[in-house]
Amino acid sequence: MNKALKDIRTIIRDYNLADETQCLDNLIAQSQLDEDIKRDIHLAACQLVTNVRNNSIPTIMEGFLAEYGLSTQEGISLMCLAEALMRVPDIETMDALIADKIVPSDWGKHLGNASSSLINATTWGLMLTGRVLDDKGEGIGATLRRMIKNLGEPVVRQAVSQAMREMGRQFVLGRSIEEAMSRAKNNEQLGYSYSYDMLGEAAMTDKDARRYHLFYSDAITAIAANCNNDIKENPGISVKLSALYPRYEMGKREAVLKELVPRIRSLAMLAKSANMGFNIDAEEAERLDLSLDVIEATLSEPALAGWDGFGVVVQAYGKRAPFVIDYLYELSKKLNRKIMVRLVKGAYWDSEIKRAQELGIENFPVFTRKENTDVSYIACAKKLLNYSDIIYPQFATHNAHTVASILTMVESDQFKLKPAFEFQRLHGMGEALHDEVLKQHKTRCRIYAPVGAHRDLLAYLVRRLLENGANSSFVNQIIDTTIPATEVAADPFLKVMQNKVDQHPDIKKPGQLFGDTRVNSKGFDITNSSDIEIIEEAIKPFNDHQWNFSKDGQRTLTIANPYKPDEVVGNVSLTDLNEIDEKAEQAKFAYKEWSKFTAKKRREILLQVADLYEENFGEVFAALCREAGKTPMDCVAELREAVDFLRY
Ligand code: FAD
Ligand code: 2OP
Repeated sequence: MNKALKDIRTIIRDYNLADETQCLDNLIAQSQLDEDIKRDIHLAACQLVTNVRNNSIPTIMEGFLAEYGLSTQEGISLMCLAEALMRVPDIETMDALIADKIVPSDWGKHLGNASSSLINATTWGLMLTGRVLDDKGEGIGATLRRMIKNLGEPVVRQAVSQAMREMGRQFVLGRSIEEAMSRAKNNEQLGYSYSYDMLGEAAMTDKDARRYHLFYSDAITAIAANCNNDIKENPGISVKLSALYPRYEMGKREAVLKELVPRIRSLAMLAKSANMGFNIDAEEAERLDLSLDVIEATLSEPALAGWDGFGVVVQAYGKRAPFVIDYLYELSKKLNRKIMVRLVKGAYWDSEIKRAQELGIENFPVFTRKENTDVSYIACAKKLLNYSDIIYPQFATHNAHTVASILTMVESDQFKLKPAFEFQRLHGMGEALHDEVLKQHKTRCRIYAPVGAHRDLLAYLVRRLLENGANSSFVNQIIDTTIPATEVAADPFLKVMQNKVDQHPDIKKPGQLFGDTRVNSKGFDITNSSDIEIIEEAIKPFNDHQWNFSKDGQRTLTIANPYKPDEVVGNVSLTDLNEIDEKAEQAKFAYKEWSKFTAKKRREILLQVADLYEENFGEVFAALCREAGKTPMDCVAELREAVDFLRY
């Protein structure tokens, strides 16, 4: 890797968990949008919102998700139920789950709220089921109650699985690539193009990964039939790296480069021969650094020269986003390639927040306020438009303000070249908005279309439910006509300026997860090479150390490293049977002495022990690793468990 690329990779790593304010300051400085442009964007966005509201009726699904969104207890119950039912194998557990999720909610308050009679009918159904399952009232005999109850759960079970299938149909274009391509024809005639995505991700076994690889190559072959000379007009394909390799993780970097890269390369070669776009989706933040290695290794393949269809997704909610774009630009320049970059906000926000809190790492890899992500998106979009000599930007969004920002920036003539670009939307989302934009501006628009069977749908569907159900999301707000268009299309820069603190105060940083009760134990992100370096540095002094706990005159046991049996880690004394009573007495005595301390003093001591553990993590990790053969991840977990117990 040349120095410029290496330097950008270092910056990318440094910004993983960077301070939110620092990131925002950089982005605002970079975007340099003057007040006139911001006003034009806002006005154009308001107009779009008004037109969409006037010219289209929300789909049943949109109405349903607006009524039962994630801001209500009922919505959360339904989402949990829907998600859980897809995993639960047996009917008894399903029924228990239904009783658990449906009964405690107040369905009655939704009655009559939604304009659709179907949604109101659903509310009636849920309300009745809630009553039936909970009915402890007088007047109905126990047998009858039991009968209704037995009838209630299967009915709900069927209704919910039917609803899940309906939702699947809303977000999935077809069960097979042939079915999807056939269903795509109507929109293609209206001027849309497609990027097909074969459902399936996070393969757990190599067998699954090979199956997905085959799906992708069959799909590329099928799509090839519809391709011609213009790659920007041709349908394309989107792939998830996690589908193609079961250990797609930093700890397996070498194996990933050896085994996953050839799989991706083979698919890219097929896409090249059909002259279609081939896009690598962005997944969890912990995979980003590794994905760049895979991307660089794949793109460097000499046989891919002369093809402009290699695509990468960048997630604007990630603090590293602008630097990832710089890296992709420099890499393509060095390799003399043209690439496509799809800019998205990011689909894994909830799990990124939870993961960081669970890991106890220093900060979040993503922004914590929606408007911060919106600003990041606009700044990254401007960067991409500036790089359009090499990068073909693909702006994937369903948000009218974001769309208006792109259109206004492009029309403002501030770029060296008149940039070519396209919009993208997900199948089943943002239809009315993009129909309007296509009609008015004749810009290109591509639809991302998942293809596959019900069993591979879960993860994708849950992300869509979260996205549609969140009351902060544009698709949720546009159908709620009580929110005025000016608010739905509000300028995120203004919101950022009005915020007193940039980091969302209600989202607890990982270290403060337990509030005032106790400090969360400090974690490490072992998918991040900076953290790996810190651990390696701290362990180094103890790599040859021997811990000696044997006493003169006692039997000694030598402890060897389980994965290097010749390496002595230390030794301990073995207690003889006749010493046991004495040891027990000593323990009892120690306990008595300990009990004499006040609670406050004992607390102080325990907290101090926790702090000492954390300070000396290098020695603890070295001992755990060399004596017990623990992996770095296990070492981190073991130490954190001890520290958490002490503080708890
Ligand atoms: P908006 O409502 O404006 O934005 C919603 C988004 O804002 C959320 O999804 C989240 O990213 C962000 N957000 C919400 N709350 C907060 C908060 N409190 N703090 C910070 N940020 C917040 N996603 C991927 O991750 N990888 C992909 O490869 C990918 N491919 C896609 C391809 C296409 C064609 C499209 C249209 C989307 C793709 N997505 C992908 C999904 C995409 O990330 C979401 O659809 C997108 O975030 C929705 O943004 P929006 O502008 O449509 O809506
Ligand atoms: C997802 O799978 C669309 O890639 C995005 O959620």
